[in-house]
Amino acid sequence: MSNNAIQIFDTTLRDGEQVPGCKLDTKQKVVIAEQLDILGVDVIEAGFPVSSPGDFKSVQSISKIVKNATVCGLTRSVENDIRVAAEALQYAKKPRIHTGIGTSESHIVHKFKTTQEDILERACAAVKYAKSFVEDVEFYAEDAGRTDNEYLARVCEAAIRAGATVLNIPDTTGYCLPSEYGAKIKFLKENVKGIEKAILSCHCHNDLGLATANSIEGVINGARQIECTINGIGERAGNTALEEVVMVLKQHPYLNLDTNVNTSMLYGMSQLVSESMGIYTQPNKAIVGANAFAHSSGIHQDGVIKNRETYEIIDPKDVGVTESAIVLTARSGRAALAYRAKNVGYELTKLQLDEVYANFLTFADRKKEIDDNDIHQIIETSKVYQ
Ligand code: KIV
Ligand code: ZN
Repeated sequence: MSNNAIQIFDTTLRDGEQVPGCKLDTKQKVVIAEQLDILGVDVIEAGFPVSSPGDFKSVQSISKIVKNATVCGLTRSVENDIRVAAEALQYAKKPRIHTGIGTSESHIVHKFKTTQEDILERACAAVKYAKSFVEDVEFYAEDAGRTDNEYLARVCEAAIRAGATVLNIPDTTGYCLPSEYGAKIKFLKENVKGIEKAILSCHCHNDLGLATANSIEGVINGARQIECTINGIGERAGNTALEEVVMVLKQHPYLNLDTNVNTSMLYGMSQLVSESMGIYTQPNKAIVGANAFAHSSGIHQDGVIKNRETYEIIDPKDVGVTESAIVLTARSGRAALAYRAKNVGYELTKLQLDEVYANFLTFADRKKEIDDNDIHQIIETSKVYQ
């Protein structure tokens, strides 16, 4: 793996599936996993096997069909969780156990009602136990975002000594600012003994809308894996959106950080996940929303028709969208109307356009969006065309 390669760890089927209202059966999960594998993600977190017989079955079925990616199962720092995960993953070509425990003061005091030393011991024991089943063990320090950096560094060191090769630093509550999260990763990179034997992983939640920014700051500061979900789905406000981090890295090549993802599949992947889960994607969602490449104001439309790059930083084809949309509304100008009219077969002169445009505005004030049938009707009923 090159030093600039960013591993994409997809957790759509685990953290993403925790989204309220999500309905996915094993068959649908297998289809999504197959597509994620073709998309080129490095790791597929297939589920939390001990959580239910259905999830166990899903992780097992996914393990059998995934050809390239590592297949991962989540556990708590509990022996039975780890044993069950190892069993669910037994058919995977490249199995990974993802185990961990809460490390913030809040988790230690309120959730575990214990001490930092006890958490450290439980973390080590879990990693060692997981290592007795698989070579590839990832350790998560839950709520690392609110964990004291010195203590976090001690936990990371202990996890590496116990055999962890990936250290997940989750901002579980989506609390960190990008500068704080980046500084945390830098601190760990510089202060954890043995860090050269492991990679740091970003796992950011979107409670303040900062998940993508935090993950990007994380990799700029030395992390080499991003944990994310398609469409950014997940608990509460969701996880880092896969399509966003992948496109940020692609559109900023000077960062020199690459992923293996075939970006032309992103739109299709988004549709597949949203349709299978029954979770609607907001129209203004970056990269994959219905409006991500739609232009509706006259000034923007005029620019895009002259040269796409005036108002688009991504070629829609790069993410699997056939073309940008010039949406006709009462805010549109003559350039957009002429463009759409030409697409349906009318080459309008300047004079004709002026008159058709006046009719168009009256029509568009009544109807929110003008479709191709409306264009025919507007033009055919304009005097200049009779
Ligand atoms: O957000 C989080 O802390 C998690 C861990 C269980 C990895 O999802
Ligand atoms: Zn999470």
